[in-house]
Amino acid sequence: MLGELPHRAMAALSMKYGPLMSLRLGPALAIVVSSPEIAREFLKTHDQLFANKPPSAATKHLSYNFADIAFTPYSPYWRHMRKLCALELLSSKPLDYFRFIREEEASAMIRSIINSDDSLPLSIKQTVSCLSTAIICRMAFNRKYSDQELRAFNSMIRESFLLLGSFNIGDYIPYLDWMDLQGLNRRMKKLHKTHDYLLEKVIEEHVARNDPKMTHDLVDVLLAASAEKDGEFQVSRDSIKGVLFDMLLGGSDTAPTAIEWAMSEALRNPPVMKKLQDELERVVGLGRMVCESDLPRLVYLQAVVKETLRLYPSGPFLTRHLSAASCNVLGYEIPHDTVVLVNDWAIGRDRNSWEDAENFIPERFMERVGSEVDANGDQNFACLLFGGGRRRCPGQQLGTLIVEFGLAQLLHCFNWRLPLDDINGQNQELDMTERFNGVTMGKARELWAIPTPRLECIAHLK
Ligand code: HEM
Repeated sequence: MLGELPHRAMAALSMKYGPLMSLRLGPALAIVVSSPEIAREFLKTHDQLFANKPPSAATKHLSYNFADIAFTPYSPYWRHMRKLCALELLSSKPLDYFRFIREEEASAMIRSIINSDDSLPLSIKQTVSCLSTAIICRMAFNRKYSDQELRAFNSMIRESFLLLGSFNIGDYIPYLDWMDLQGLNRRMKKLHKTHDYLLEKVIEEHVARNDPKMTHDLVDVLLAASAEKDGEFQVSRDSIKGVLFDMLLGGSDTAPTAIEWAMSEALRNPPVMKKLQDELERVVGLGRMVCESDLPRLVYLQAVVKETLRLYPSGPFLTRHLSAASCNVLGYEIPHDTVVLVNDWAIGRDRNSWEDAENFIPERFMERVGSEVDANGDQNFACLLFGGGRRRCPGQQLGTLIVEFGLAQLLHCFNWRLPLDDINGQNQELDMTERFNGVTMGKARELWAIPTPRLECIAHLK
């Protein structure tokens, strides 16, 4: 009944029934949150009570029976694993250390664009998906994969999102689960086998190399934690694989999806494109490529990224939260084990918080810089670019770097045009229809565009 774009259907329902609604999803009670004020109640005031995650067959399979971070219940184990990832991979110190990886991979992306057939359009999403996955694999596993292997990773991630987002009858009517009427359990087992094989290989390579001179990465740290017999938490081999898979799942699709939406907005709004490229010319100059250290001065580009995530959040609902006990929120009794769906797509377009809410106006974030919207998100909960509360995204800094840096490179190194512009001789109307796969929200029709080099200095990358 909610159709293919449930965030839109639920936003429409909330206009009628209010920003806090309850729904029955089979035997489960769910509440839907659609305004910043109500989101604050769940993600700040009562954050701890709603920091659990509802289990499903897909989350069980993909998380190695909840041994990961994203799907594991709120617990000391979750806190410990999240802290390990932050310390070794996602906080400022490792991010600074791994800057060379992001710069090398961005150059590799530009090289692959230069070497492609320049008369043919390129898929922006496919181009930047390899960038994002390559960065995460090198930072987390210290392993460089070929383009073909990266594409295999990306199709595994797509299948994971499809399964995570599928309506699985067995989750709602448990006595039918064994029949696997939709064949989803079979697909989950097959997918689990593939990614287990890949992750086992990564772990075995680390165990075999045992070379103290090699850079220490997240896998080494997790292996060391698993060897501690009297540690407070049992970090098992499954924990290592669950956490590594989370890193891939968290960053491989979100960042490329955001870049594809941002490029689409720039291509259909020539003044936005001009402003972006003028800023790059002013700050970086046409004599060299962008460096990561240029990003803090690219303030319009940063605003474009925030505006993109406001209108097109990587997931239109935050990950599902679950109440750990019965409680009272704003006078409503909310039972134990209630699923909470925060519609961040609707919140980002809330007319009380945003003027001209449906339109792409990056300048609004330049006016708000340093006030409500800062690196930690929006204090007013008016846009939840990376979620909120205890379960907010731990990869915010890395995700933002990949999106800003990837977008800056594409726009600084090349001018872009849409394929049909060549035929019509005028700007083509871009199809901005969304497609929801159950978790993330990408474009229904991929963005294809034709690059022409803008910088002379990139010719040497060939
Ligand atoms: C533009 C890029 C990204 C966006 C827009 C994004 C967005 C989000 C959002 C909205 C959530 C859910 C928060 C909630 O439920 O309140 C989340 C969770 C998460 N993200 Fe990200 N993310 C990005 C990049 C990354 C990266 C690069 C990583 C790791 C390499 C990552 C790892 C995670 C993990 C592990 C969680 C689960 C956290 C938990 O349950 O404790 N994300 N992300």
